[in-house]
Amino acid sequence: MILFTNIGELAGIAPEGLLRRQGAEMADAGILHDAWLAVEGGKIVDFGTGPAPEADETIDACGGMILPAFCDSHTHVVYAGSREGEFLDKINGLSYEQIAARGGGILNSSDLLNATPEDELYRQSMERVREVLAKGTGSLEIKSGYGLNPEGEMKMLRVIRRIRESVPAQVVSTFLGAHAVGRGYTREAYVQAVIDIIPEAAGLADFVDVFCDEGFFTPEDTARILEAGAACGLRGKIHANELAVSGGVQVGVRHNALSVDHLERTGDAEIEALRGTGTMPVMLPGSSFFLGIPYGRAKDYIRAGLGLALASDYNPGSSPSGDMRFVMALACVKMRLTPAEALNAVTLNGAYAMGLSGETGSVTRGKRADLILTRPGWTLAKLPYLHHTPFIRSLYLTGKESLF
Ligand code: NIG
Ligand code: FE
Repeated sequence: MILFTNIGELAGIAPEGLLRRQGAEMADAGILHDAWLAVEGGKIVDFGTGPAPEADETIDACGGMILPAFCDSHTHVVYAGSREGEFLDKINGLSYEQIAARGGGILNSSDLLNATPEDELYRQSMERVREVLAKGTGSLEIKSGYGLNPEGEMKMLRVIRRIRESVPAQVVSTFLGAHAVGRGYTREAYVQAVIDIIPEAAGLADFVDVFCDEGFFTPEDTARILEAGAACGLRGKIHANELAVSGGVQVGVRHNALSVDHLERTGDAEIEALRGTGTMPVMLPGSSFFLGIPYGRAKDYIRAGLGLALASDYNPGSSPSGDMRFVMALACVKMRLTPAEALNAVTLNGAYAMGLSGETGSVTRGKRADLILTRPGWTLAKLPYLHHTPFIRSLYLTGKESLF
């Protein structure tokens, strides 16, 4: 047994069986002061204050924090090359939609990906995976969606599988064939091609995604793809309401999607549609920041009693960062979340949005010991406040200290 003693703040404690925090529950960061925590067999076995049990190994936290490793439920870290040229176009005034209409954007990444050998794609992507683990992410979702033809999409899913097998973090895989219409297809033909490869993709993917938005895929396309996914055991996690009030939230909820993500442009109807459902709204403040588009109405969602997860959306076009502490800072500064709400959004609720909250995402007896041990002097409020000051002393994944 490993025992952590002298923990100034043990944060992210959640009762057994609680799979997500919603509404007013999100204000509860689950904090104990001056605590200890015991880990055995890669799992959290106990924690508390006062006298600690005997242990084989004791680690003095020196008054630092222990919190759950971040759960990043929405990323596109498998991609080839870079799009910094478009960054310059954006500075010079072009919008995300204008860049895409010129053949840039997702299609640019698709050309780069299809020209990159699989081993090289793995190598480039692993650099980003190591980068995010070094920043405290312990579980992450990775999407396909830059192949945009059957061969390229399967290549991406194989790379995601290889990443899952080579890192101690938990990785889940999402088939996002419908990210943009692949070159040489009409939209109708491409939607059919996506549906046709779902049975094969389902051998490697855990979820199915569609970019349901203006200029990309319609709610009808989305419904067909979600139905084809469900027939192969893939639940939806969809891109919705980033560029327009797209109907994406409603179609996602109707098809029992696990999450609906982005939500920069939603009205009261979307909030109403989500109430009382198992679908987690996921907001991606890194893309609002980078694209200069509105932030989602996070506070209204919480006031309406909904849960909320936050993710990085790490990708080369709209959010070139996987730093979950920066996500927390944007949520606090731009969306007025409290640090406690932001913590729940990047841990337990993020785990929920990957179907992992029964096993990770909080300090709970029996869950995997996926934990961040901070340097001395850190508190919950300092995480988003001192948002770029190094804070991690060690990251533990399944109870093992992990260096990246
Ligand atoms: O989540 N919105 C669609 N897809 C990504 C962007 C992908 C890209 O531009 O490469 C997103 O923001
Ligand atoms: Fe995305």
